[in-house]
Amino acid sequence: MSSPAQTYVLSIDQGTTSTRAVVFDHAGQTVASAQKEHTQHFPRAGWVEHDVVEIWANTREVITEALCRGELNSSQITSLGITNQRETTVIWDGATGEPIHRAIVWQDTRTQSLCDELATGNGADEPDTERFKERTGLPLATYFSGPKIRWILDHVDGAHQRAAAGELLFGTIDTWLVWNLTGGVSGGVHVTDVTNASRTLLMNIDTLDWNKDVCDAMGVPVEVLPRIASSSEVYAECSQESGLPGVPIAGILGDQHAATVGQACFGPGQGKNTYGTGNFMLINTGHEPVRNDKGLLTTLAYQFGDQKPVYALEGSIAVTGSLIQWLRDNLGIISEAAESETRAARVQDHGGAYVVPAFSGLFAPHWRSEARGVFVGLTSFVNADHICRASLESVAFQSAEVVEAMNASAPEDLTELKVDGGMVVNDLLMQFQADILGVDVVRPEVIETTALGAAYAAGLATGYWKSTAELVENWTEGQRWSPRMDKSERAQRLSEWKKAVTRAFDWVE
Ligand code: G3P
Repeated sequence: MSSPAQTYVLSIDQGTTSTRAVVFDHAGQTVASAQKEHTQHFPRAGWVEHDVVEIWANTREVITEALCRGELNSSQITSLGITNQRETTVIWDGATGEPIHRAIVWQDTRTQSLCDELATGNGADEPDTERFKERTGLPLATYFSGPKIRWILDHVDGAHQRAAAGELLFGTIDTWLVWNLTGGVSGGVHVTDVTNASRTLLMNIDTLDWNKDVCDAMGVPVEVLPRIASSSEVYAECSQESGLPGVPIAGILGDQHAATVGQACFGPGQGKNTYGTGNFMLINTGHEPVRNDKGLLTTLAYQFGDQKPVYALEGSIAVTGSLIQWLRDNLGIISEAAESETRAARVQDHGGAYVVPAFSGLFAPHWRSEARGVFVGLTSFVNADHICRASLESVAFQSAEVVEAMNASAPEDLTELKVDGGMVVNDLLMQFQADILGVDVVRPEVIETTALGAAYAAGLATGYWKSTAELVENWTEGQRWSPRMDKSERAQRLSEWKKAVTRAFDWVE
């Protein structure tokens, strides 16, 4: 049991599949945690929704449970950091606190026709998916929040009028949680941070303000949008009812940005790859936004208080961990995620099979929303173990394509890859990742880097940590995998993968 004099920072990590509360000490070590999954709603092919009332209830539950497990009381929590699945869009009534629709999740592709329409809406003869890229850093794609807001306003009776009258509030999940934690209908604070705002397709990436022209073109009234703040400052205190009375909320970061901070990637050229529901590689590019024509997104890494913002290039992959979930829930060939490794290890190789999991189209570096998943190279030799192996390999191949785009965009090639997230406990995957990249893959001792990054942001704002130098000191190497595959095999496997990817496009052409 901790002494009552000891103090900690609490982090809420609201992810695509579950909500976690994690308590950290000054050394960045986990003291206690709790986790709860929420329901995934799939009302139609390509649609994914979350019930944010369930997510809010789960959030309160995991906070209470984590404190209870650590035998802590809320007065020992000096600040709260929030990190979240990004882009997922919720709109609620500010007077009742009721969402007007279930949240539309980042993976959802229902806004494809809206994006197509917007791509031709600037009078150009050819569709222009880069129409907003100079201003927002992002291509027009179903992934981002702007088109999802517009879809909800178009499909809920009277929503456009209520939005224009200031009755409705939009938020990504960070905003929804902060509003509820700070009192909800009785004075909840409506705020987001620059990292989450940078994923809406509505924020100007240079000025860090909502861009009125883009909002107008998208059909999103600025009245629904939250205030954009930095990622590390005291936004407000938690209400009496929240379970954390008086605790300052002092950090907000989208989950991938939080992992970048948790991995202590504070210098230009430093980056990480997180293996979650999807994979997301972010490389710190310093104080200026770097535009990219290789399929990478220009995004914020973080902004601490009134310091200059730090930017990043991002390679987003929609389906990696969720492919393993799909093997379990939809195909039933494994009963738990860890079995994907045991089954894959039973066979010598992939048996000629490739799995391209384009379930939400393909994100980086392709940005082809219409692509669909394919299995190729099947023969009667291929069994479920090969499918497990090919599925794990698809995670590494997709990351290799992102690294290729990063290398083509940076002055120097990546020399090693820092990894984190749930899938990095999979030894076979990590070895294959090193093999297919030809560089070392390095995992830190604490792999809870997402939750840790949000705690760091909150703790920096309140003086629990004095500087980023302290955070760099907390980072220690846990495990390292070095490449074993020879160059010619690597080249052949990569070229076969690329051929498989073209089949995901052919299918819809
Ligand atoms: O952009 C989507 C991303 O933030 C989701 O992350 O960890 O829930 O897979 P995760």
